[in-house]
Parts: sequence; structure tokens; C-alpha cells
Amino acid sequence: MKLCEIIRADAQGVARAAQTLLDGRLVAFPTETVYGLGGDAESDAAITAIYTAKGRPSRNPLIVHVSDLAMAQRYGRFEEAATALARHFWPGPLTLVVPRTDFCAASPRVSAGGDTIALRVPNHPVALDLLRRFGRGIAAPSANRSGRISPTQAEHVAEEFATSPLRPSLILDGGATKIGVESTVMECRQGRVSLLRSGGLTQEAIHAVAATTAASPRMADALPSPGMLESHYAPRALVRLVATEVRAGEALLAFGATTLAAAAMRNLSPTGDLEEAAHYLYAYLRELDASGAPTIAVMPIPEEGVGVAINDRLRRAAAQRV
Ligand code: TXA
Ligand code: MG
Repeated sequence: MKLCEIIRADAQGVARAAQTLLDGRLVAFPTETVYGLGGDAESDAAITAIYTAKGRPSRNPLIVHVSDLAMAQRYGRFEEAATALARHFWPGPLTLVVPRTDFCAASPRVSAGGDTIALRVPNHPVALDLLRRFGRGIAAPSANRSGRISPTQAEHVAEEFATSPLRPSLILDGGATKIGVESTVMECRQGRVSLLRSGGLTQEAIHAVAATTAASPRMADALPSPGMLESHYAPRALVRLVATEVRAGEALLAFGATTLAAAAMRNLSPTGDLEEAAHYLYAYLRELDASGAPTIAVMPIPEEGVGVAINDRLRRAAAQRV
């Protein structure tokens, strides 16, 4: 089985990746959240290739990564609240869904045919270097096959596409990603701000800024983003949540100090640190899945800070598969 080519993310590697994107091909690259499967945001063919490689439904739009707010404004219209959030949190794990500009050159397919576009400036030196060299937006969903666990290491990306006929031409290896869960997605339009997906930027942090900003966003009711409607982030094993005991044959995903034990076991954070837990979440789910256990039992995780995003992903991993 031929795996994708993994290359070092040094200056030479990034230059090669930028050229590969210019040639219309796909490149996987690290961000501070998870690895992305990137293609030229302005090329219909590249965007189509991303959907095909992932097996992603075409109604689920993509995030366009940009190097800064000025590049973002070529594609999206930033009202006061969006501008304030971008100025405060970019580069960082926040994606802003805003109306497309009249002169937006991004493929309509990144918006799944709609009139909004999702934009984000990633806080990772490799991603930023690649974006600056490329000079325009890079559309990049998480670099996993649709419905599967997001990759936080270059090897995970190679595993995901090992049996896929269409795969990234190369993978830039920037080591393990720091945050470990995807960006927070917020929609800003018509004076309203709403949360579409919880993620690496906590609601506590957003509210702290919103309260002190002139453009204080009114938080509307959370609407799920199109990508949040189905079972997702799923290992092959079944996932059993809020486990207080381990049943025969189960693997265990623990959190905090515990006396529970299993033959296949990982602890997301023995000290109960939620950021550490987010960092290891997807890698440990992959490892426990590889143990062959039919079910992964997951201990309770506090619903605060980045724990909100962790629990959201775990609930989707546990959801009934279609
Ligand atoms: O951290 C991240 O966000 C990673 C890295 C690679 O940047 N990317 C990522 O992409 O998680 P993806 O495609 O796996 O998730 C994008 C989410 C989906 O839930 C999608 O439905 C939503 O963003 N989305 C994208 N464009 C949208 C739009 N125009 N309106 C509403 N939701 C949108
Ligand atoms: Mg994803």
C-alpha cells in the first residue's frame, strides 16, 4: 500500500507545497488545531478534488484559510463585530462565517453555493508561511475522510488516505498540532453573531472580549453548521460516554485521577487539565481504536472551557452511525 509523501516543513518543503497548490493539486498542512487538506480556494477543480478525496457531501461548505484580515476582506464582508473578533483573535482557532463580497474570487463551491464564506487565519508558522507564499486563500477542511477522526499528526493524514484513490500530493510535517480540536466557528452577519461550532477558542474567551468591545456581538441562539448535523469524528469502535466503570472487553479513555483500568487504556490528562486533554483526544481515540476493542468507554469530562468542544466531539463520535 503506497502512502502519501510526507515532507519536512522547512523553507524548501513549504516552497514545494506552494508550487503544488499553484499546479492545482492538494497539500495537507499543519495548523494549530488539526491538519488541513488544502487546495486553491479560487479553483473549482481543486475544490472538487477536496470533496472527492474526503468523500464529503457537497452541501457541507469549506473553510478558506488566509494570511491576514486584509486577505480575508478580499473574500468576505466584515461588519463591526466580525472585524473586532478578527482583530482580537486572529491568528487563532476562530473561523468567521461572513457574507461573500461582490468581488469574491473564491470558488462558489467553498460556500456550497451559498452567499456566505468561512474564513480563518491559522496560528501556525508553517500554515502562515504557506499562505504568504501562495498569496491567496487555501480552502482546507480537516484532512480526514468524511465522518472520521480529525488528524493531529502527519502520519494520521497518510493513514486516512492510504486506501483512497484521490489523496494529497504531499503532506507537510509540522509535528503534532498544539490545540488538538478544530476551530470555533461563528457566523457574523446583519448585526448578529452566532456560534455554529464549539472549538479551540472557548466561549469564555469570546464573551470576555465581547463584553468590552464597542461592537459587542449579540449572541444569537446556536445554529449547527452544516457539518455538525451527522455522526462525525467516529472511530470504528463504538463509543460509550460518561463511563463510571469498565465493562468486559472495553478500552478505556480516562480523564483525571482514576482507579479504573483496562487492557487498552489512555488517560487524556491525569491532572485533569482540559487543554492537555484536547491535545491528546484524537490521537488517543485512534490508538484505542487500533487496539481492536469493540467499544471505547469514556470517563466524564467537565463541560467548561475547551471541555465543551471535547464533549461535543465525543457525543458525535458516540452518535448512531448512518
Ligand atoms: O480547525 C479547523 O477549523 C480545521 C483546520 C484545518 O483549519 N478545519 C476544519 O474544517 O475543521 P472542516 O471542514 O472539518 O469543518 C468546517 C466547519 C464545518 O462544520 C462546516 O459546515 C462549517 O465549518 N462551515 C464552513 N463554511 C461554512 C459556511 N459558509 N456557513 C456555515 N458553516 C460553514
Ligand atoms: Mg472536519
